[in-house]
Amino acid sequence: MTQQRVLVLTHSVEVPAGDFLGLGIPTTGVTSTPLLLAALDDGVVLVVIAPDVPLAEALDVASGQRVARPDLGVVLMRTKPDAGLLKTAMRAGVREVVGADDDAGLLEACQRSLELTAQLSVASAPAASPAPLVPAVPVAGQVVTVFAAKGGCGKTTVATNLAVSVAEAGRSVCLIDLDLAFGDVAIALQLDPKRTLSDAVAMAGHVDETGIRSLITPYRPHLDALLAPVEPGAAEAIPASLVGELLAVLRTMYDVVVVDTPPAFTDHVLAAFDASDRFVLVASLDVPALKNLKLTLEMLDLLNFDPARREIVLNRSDSKVGLTLGEVQDALGAKVSVQIPSSRAVPSAINRGVPIVLDAPGHAVSAAIRSLAARIAPKPASSTSHGKGRRLLRRRVTA
Ligand SMILES: Nc1ncnc2c1ncn2[C@@H]1O[C@H](COP(=O)(O)OP(=O)(O)OP(=O)(O)O)[C@@H](O)[C@H]1O
Ligand SMILES: [Mg+2]
Repeated sequence: MTQQRVLVLTHSVEVPAGDFLGLGIPTTGVTSTPLLLAALDDGVVLVVIAPDVPLAEALDVASGQRVARPDLGVVLMRTKPDAGLLKTAMRAGVREVVGADDDAGLLEACQRSLELTAQLSVASAPAASPAPLVPAVPVAGQVVTVFAAKGGCGKTTVATNLAVSVAEAGRSVCLIDLDLAFGDVAIALQLDPKRTLSDAVAMAGHVDETGIRSLITPYRPHLDALLAPVEPGAAEAIPASLVGELLAVLRTMYDVVVVDTPPAFTDHVLAAFDASDRFVLVASLDVPALKNLKLTLEMLDLLNFDPARREIVLNRSDSKVGLTLGEVQDALGAKVSVQIPSSRAVPSAINRGVPIVLDAPGHAVSAAIRSLAARIAPKPASSTSHGKGRRLLRRRVTA
């Protein structure tokens, strides 16, 4: 395996040899862009661009590498990092912008970038072992993963209300809570987590419809839930391969499987990504959330997921923070599908344990989520909310 290296591009600062940044990886200084490009072999996992490198040159380096080497992290140091600069840098593919004097910030940014690079290389590496054995069943429903790499953007709010809206529109839905350590679906829907994903561990390698039926918690007509474990530490016992197995069988049982996720690219999330037909990517109107969304989009590009299968949801889109929709879309290089306004009605519905689409169907937040549901699963032509929705739930699996 090629030795990992970090390169620091600087025109005037002398970079001592060795582990200069304290990352546990040898760091080498390069004094010009041509030298940097010549040194960029597979071992280079991170490029740090010093504050003395002109911005235009730095952005050229980043944008050149975002296609050639999407797994390569570029961290940009600037004397005065501001929101405008961050936006331009994000657009060019820079992962992090750090203040020139912020040594701790630099170390953290480099560590985050190395972590992402490691996750990207694991995700794009060919599987070491054969795929888990799943029953030979017809593929029916679609798997929709709701994700945001930053916490608290509104994933669970969107996932629960999306699941309810799709069920209300006449489709059978299973909502699965993959936030294994801190899952909130049970609380959001006031469900008693008697059976959870922990109980699926014993089924690893032979998951079938009967087994899944014993795990689900029914919520309302056409909507079941597969809840996250409640005991601390239970998440570690759940193998990531089990996620793929569960989703493979769930999609034969339901029209739509909605996956709620933790705010991180865990192995379980990557397994859900692999099984997903659609992605609902949630961000709020703040630069860290948008930066993380941008990274997620790049990761999905790297994994070759079709951009047409992504829906970008801007939550609390009316927050007055000085970023316009146009600026956001420019920075992301992608269109926002749905904007959800900010409203106190959302936490107040959650506190009552009733999704807002049921609590206040006429509210603007509910309307926005229904429009997302319509994009994900258009209403079946000839069904009401009863009838066809039960079709797949009743269907037997044929081997
Ligand atoms: N549109 C909105 N208006 C007002 N409050 C909202 C809105 N969307 C979400 N919230 C509130 O923001 C908080 C975080 O929402 P939620 O739990 O859905 O985020 P999350 O991304 O699932 O978080 P985590 O990463 O912790 O799982 C909740 O208190 C929720 O009530
Ligand atoms: Mg959540």
